[in-house]
Amino acid sequence: MRRVDELREQTVWKSDPHTQVKHLVYRHYLQCWMGKILQTFPEATIVDAFAGPGVYTDGPPGSPIVVAKTFLEHTAYRRFNKLNLVCLEERTDRVEELRRQFAKLSPSPQLNISVQAPGVFAEQQPRLSTLAHRGRAETPVLWLIDPFDLKSAPFSLIRRCLAGPRDEVLFTLFTNELHRFCQRENFDKTMTPYFGGTHWQSAVPERRGRREAFATAYQQGLKDQELFTGGFGIKVSNQSARYHLVLATHSEAGLKCWAPVTWKLDHYSGQGASAETAGALSLFDEASVVDRLDVALRAYAGTAQRWETLSSQAARLNHMDKHLRQVLDKLAAQGLAFRVDPVRARTAWPEGCTVRFYAPEDVADEAS
Ligand SMILES: C[S@@+](CC[C@H](N)C(=O)[O-])C[C@H]1O[C@@H](n2cnc3c(N)ncnc32)[C@H](O)[C@@H]1O
Repeated sequence: MRRVDELREQTVWKSDPHTQVKHLVYRHYLQCWMGKILQTFPEATIVDAFAGPGVYTDGPPGSPIVVAKTFLEHTAYRRFNKLNLVCLEERTDRVEELRRQFAKLSPSPQLNISVQAPGVFAEQQPRLSTLAHRGRAETPVLWLIDPFDLKSAPFSLIRRCLAGPRDEVLFTLFTNELHRFCQRENFDKTMTPYFGGTHWQSAVPERRGRREAFATAYQQGLKDQELFTGGFGIKVSNQSARYHLVLATHSEAGLKCWAPVTWKLDHYSGQGASAETAGALSLFDEASVVDRLDVALRAYAGTAQRWETLSSQAARLNHMDKHLRQVLDKLAAQGLAFRVDPVRARTAWPEGCTVRFYAPEDVADEAS
């Protein structure tokens, strides 16, 4: 089944490396946001406005579960005040699946989860805003806005999510679609509401880096509204960004959590990985020996493996753990291996970690 049909027809669909990178951005950002906000304010809210079913067919959790687990597994959890997690999803089948996924988590008195009845975000936003602020405009609210298309989240809607003084938005900006379709006839009727103005036109003449130019134009629109903003291209290996995550916040302090996220994720996104990879490869004098481990690890595509399994596999092929780490580095640079656990670690592949593997077809840039 084509991916676009899978997304439309199935309740739950398969994850891809881009989703993993997006969730890593969420997890790193939330680690920092929660650490600061939930020890400062008596309560705060995260609204996952395009929540999805909470799980992917191949096992990884969806964004609402990622948020809940980041909270429950945070090192400062015991010192946290209350977090409200409000989820909206338009499809009934996905709402039901999401409720099933939440039911598997241990309840916590500090985490108030509310899965809303199926609804369309643009219609529900005013009600969700009231719910999220709990009667106080200054309650911090982080809105996760992750739709499938451009039309579901025009700039006017994003602006409404930023009405409160401590509202923040983490938004999926479809830079690849913008790049591909910007010169199509009548597409300006979609672009202008999406950007909240015609400033997107400045990116169109860009020959190289047009996706980035659209992200910059969008962020300029936020800056023009006196907002602070950060952006991060979601790509794997050395491919072009498929989409950008854009943070919009009222406070410069909000950006203090953002910059470290982008640096930490360089490795996973492949942006900074090419030099490392080149260095890693030079360690291997006998390419064929390395290839055996490379082939063995690639055969794990579609599964998650614990370090112990990988290490014993490497040993059976007469490799040491340091070789395993180098091959994992190489696969990660191509978007084929992701450390999914733990989120934070001093090294890329610590003992005890869990690694999820993908096939090259999962990485293929179907768009360009
Ligand atoms: C990109 S997926 C969300 C993935 C999820 N955030 C994650 O990272 O695991 C978008 C979801 O939004 C839902 N959706 C689409 N349009 C919507 C709308 N206008 N309001 C609310 N949900 C919508 C879709 O059914 C789909 O499940």
